Amino acid sequence: MRAIITGAASGIGQAAAFRLAEDAAKRGTPARFVIADLTEDRLDRTDAGLRARGAETHRAWGDISLEDTALHIVATAREKIGGLDLLVSNAGDFSSAPLAELSTSEFDRVFAINTRAAWLLAKAAYPMLRDSRGCVIATSSLAGVNPQPPFGSYSPSKAALIMLIRQLAQEWGPDGIRCNCVCPGATRTGRTEGFYQQQGVERERAARIPMQRIAESTDIAKGISFLASPDADYISGINLVVDGALEGALMPLFATSKVD
Ligand SMILES: NC(=O)c1ccc[n+]([C@@H]2O[C@H](COP(=O)([O-])OP(=O)(O)OC[C@H]3O[C@@H](n4cnc5c(N)ncnc54)[C@H](O)[C@@H]3O)[C@@H](O)[C@H]2O)c1
Repeated sequence: MRAIITGAASGIGQAAAFRLAEDAAKRGTPARFVIADLTEDRLDRTDAGLRARGAETHRAWGDISLEDTALHIVATAREKIGGLDLLVSNAGDFSSAPLAELSTSEFDRVFAINTRAAWLLAKAAYPMLRDSRGCVIATSSLAGVNPQPPFGSYSPSKAALIMLIRQLAQEWGPDGIRCNCVCPGATRTGRTEGFYQQQGVERERAARIPMQRIAESTDIAKGISFLASPDADYISGINLVVDGALEGALMPLFATSKVD
């Protein structure tokens, strides 16, 4: 199994890397990774964790909002691991302001990271994915299905990502390439840890989730593992929601304690 994972230094990307390495070890197949993030040193822990699980790793780094970074990551896979079976396009970022205050450059930056990078990576990787009849998985968000104020262009960029992956599934299905999203709900990761450590936040949020807890990165990694597995070999073009039933929790907001 030869894979690229972006945003691999932390949170969901790191958990997915570890889980995919464990899956490969169970199947007795070699696991070879290109792990990517903003800087080389950020990848130390993921690199060490993958090696401890018996995987081969190579690093690629840079800002994924830049076209050259996407090309560099895919070129690293071509040179170092000789092909590609799986692209996990996971790196993402919030936007810093609500829409009324958002600058054009910040709007574009968020779309470049959350949406355009997934296309650039997939496009550059297409010849290798076609050769392997491989698989693309992008990390979308519940915010791509429901607007999430006050994060400006974050929800629109994740909604566009979901459609991008659906369109890739249509265009590349005849090549045997499967393309899916995994869609996390509220998840404890490097990015959200500070938020959940605030007094009462985790308890208050968890109470709104039917399954009564915030997801761990490993919960989302299980979804990625399934979509990458042979068990999902006829699944393409979906957005696999992993949210403890949070998305369905809209109508209960209007429930009264007693309806006669
Ligand atoms: N944590 C949540 O609640 C949640 C919910 C829904 C979706 N997501 C999505 O999950 C994905 C992973 O997020 P996470 O929560 O694990 O966050 P995280 O901060 O723990 O990990 C994200 C990684 O992406 C990297 N990254 C960010 N911007 C980058 C850039 N421009 N270039 C290269 N790398 C960059 C970061 O350095 C970081 O290591 C994101 O796409 C995010 O939008 C997270």
